[in-house]
Amino acid sequence: MAEPARDRAGAAKPARDEAGAAEPARERADRAGGAAGGEGRGDVGLGDEPERAYDATPFVPARAKLPGLRRAAAECRGCPLHGPASQTVFGAGDAKAPLVLIGEQPGDQEDRKGHPFVGPAGHVLNRALEEAGIDPERTYVTNAVKHFSFEYVPERGKRRIHKPPNPRELSACRPWLAAELALIDPEVLVALGASAGKALLGSSFRVTKQRGVLLPCPAIGDYRGRGDCLVATIHPSAVLRADDREAVFAGLVSDLRVAVRALDSQP
Ligand code: URA
Repeated sequence: MAEPARDRAGAAKPARDEAGAAEPARERADRAGGAAGGEGRGDVGLGDEPERAYDATPFVPARAKLPGLRRAAAECRGCPLHGPASQTVFGAGDAKAPLVLIGEQPGDQEDRKGHPFVGPAGHVLNRALEEAGIDPERTYVTNAVKHFSFEYVPERGKRRIHKPPNPRELSACRPWLAAELALIDPEVLVALGASAGKALLGSSFRVTKQRGVLLPCPAIGDYRGRGDCLVATIHPSAVLRADDREAVFAGLVSDLRVAVRALDSQP
């Protein structure tokens, strides 16, 4: 979308050398706590364990577009989730999308394939988008947290069991979401589930109370949006867990239609 948004994104994390050139993400990260140390967050003694800071900021390049952000995110060690996960799952879709959908975090399939919403929840989401009249080609889909978080439980054998992100992980990963939103500058946001809502609106967010209505645009990083631009709804995986899948699915579609109306009413 508009160049000013990209400029805003660039200004979000001013990290320049004396000649004014943007500093590559890897070097910023090294300064922040990696092997080079000695400056910035290195001073707080994180050594080669920047994940202990729970902050992705040093890994986010100052003046990158989406492909550059995606490349840098692949190296993120801003929280401990990068360790067990197979890869970073960055957002995907139309870089100028008027509508951005934000999920919680990649699941098992997404972790293996490297793309958001390609597993069972993604199939539900695609069906719901279609039913709500949303063209998936005109959306950008991402997650509040970019790494799969899982645990093993004895009775489930070797299966990796999804573990919802905790507040520190949500906060650590927020700079990536902020950078994506600042670049795309969407007109409408959809938060899919409680974690996405909390990432955007804070820990007091309750999806049961705040879903399906137009909420004020959240201020996240340099993204400000305009007026009321956020619609929260349930996470698509809730449909798969529900006893009455049809009714829960219908609720998801109905909330998505609120987002469609918000888009239609944009000047
Ligand atoms: N659930 C999410 O929240 N995001 C994905 O990408 C997949 C499942």
